[in-house]
Amino acid sequence: MRCQCPSAPLRALSSTLSGAEGCAAAERIMNLLNIQFPQVDAARLAQAHRDGAEASAPLPTEEQALLTAEITALLREKNAVLIAHYYTPEAVQELAEQTGGCVADSLEMARFGRDHAAQTLAVAGVRFMGETAKILSPDKQVLMPSLQAECSLDLNCPAELFREARQQHPERAAVVYANTSAAVKAEADWVVTSSNALKIVAHLKQEGRKIFWASDRFLGSYIQRETGADMLLWPGSCIVHEQFKADGLRRLKERHPEAEVLVHPESPPDVISLADYVGSTSNLLNAAKRSTAPAFIVATEPGIFYKMRQAMPDKLFLSAPQAGEGAACESCARCPWMAMNGLRNLRAALKDGAANEIHVAESVRVRAAASIKRMMDFSFAATAATCTAA
Ligand code: 13P
Ligand code: SF4
Repeated sequence: MRCQCPSAPLRALSSTLSGAEGCAAAERIMNLLNIQFPQVDAARLAQAHRDGAEASAPLPTEEQALLTAEITALLREKNAVLIAHYYTPEAVQELAEQTGGCVADSLEMARFGRDHAAQTLAVAGVRFMGETAKILSPDKQVLMPSLQAECSLDLNCPAELFREARQQHPERAAVVYANTSAAVKAEADWVVTSSNALKIVAHLKQEGRKIFWASDRFLGSYIQRETGADMLLWPGSCIVHEQFKADGLRRLKERHPEAEVLVHPESPPDVISLADYVGSTSNLLNAAKRSTAPAFIVATEPGIFYKMRQAMPDKLFLSAPQAGEGAACESCARCPWMAMNGLRNLRAALKDGAANEIHVAESVRVRAAASIKRMMDFSFAATAATCTAA
């Protein structure tokens, strides 16, 4: 599953640099906030691609077995549990499953970490996931394989800029995506993930609230279309999902009429309009399980294929096209920051915790915890969630 595509860094880079040019129709709605689009630094992104490719490169079998044994022993010794996102490399997801940890979406990762008895949470994902774990479990140690694992949605939404813009709209409920920093969450009324954003915004609309939304503009505009809520949208985007292309997807559908299309809502509106099902990572996985279709075209990070193929070995899973048409790899859709989670740096993090530990200032943590708790109470009020692994 390693990124093998030499054009991926450049493609992601050019997409980021021209990020505000996306879908013209959607842009008209989004420019209401009139915020200068904060760009991801080009050199930083290129470095992330190099680091991600290195960390997730397949290891020689013998080394992988050795690392697996060592990490398993370290987890036990340190009273630690491994919590991995669906987009992390296969070897990391496998290890989380084998050691009684969890492979999940960002919401379930947060719940699992909060409720688990382990004293140390080893979070394989991107930084906001580690921060959320720390915010919910301040007395636990939270470690990550790489503290450089970021997210363009977090980078697109600096706290000072967010605070300034939010203060201009005090009458609106500030609803922020989980893919933001702890400092942004501390300024928000609600935190949401892609698995509960629709329900939470619909609930707020029912209460007569208008929304100040950050940071993914495509998820925001999708929710706006679905709920009809009055939303001001921050112009951030995911460098992976914004690259999915409707034209290529149409052509791939023609070649695979038997396939259903599953789309993560961080994708552009014209891609979402072609979906049979739109949802968060875990919702896409569950939609495929429920469906009787023999094949699926999936518009999200391909790390999810590990769990999809494990659960449905007889079904065909195809990556939705990005710049190419699906036949050739012109862009591999891998998230460079998720790829930074490997077995070598996971072992190093567990061995020398201090160097890879997540810290959140208490004054920020307390305020961020209130908006995350609101989301957790809303989401888990009716049903007890269960992690897909463990
Ligand atoms: P989920 O909340 O669906 O896990 O998504 C997180 C993410 O980073 C999507 O790109
Ligand atoms: Fe962020 Fe996109 Fe990577 Fe998800 S896939 S962590 S939204 S950059």
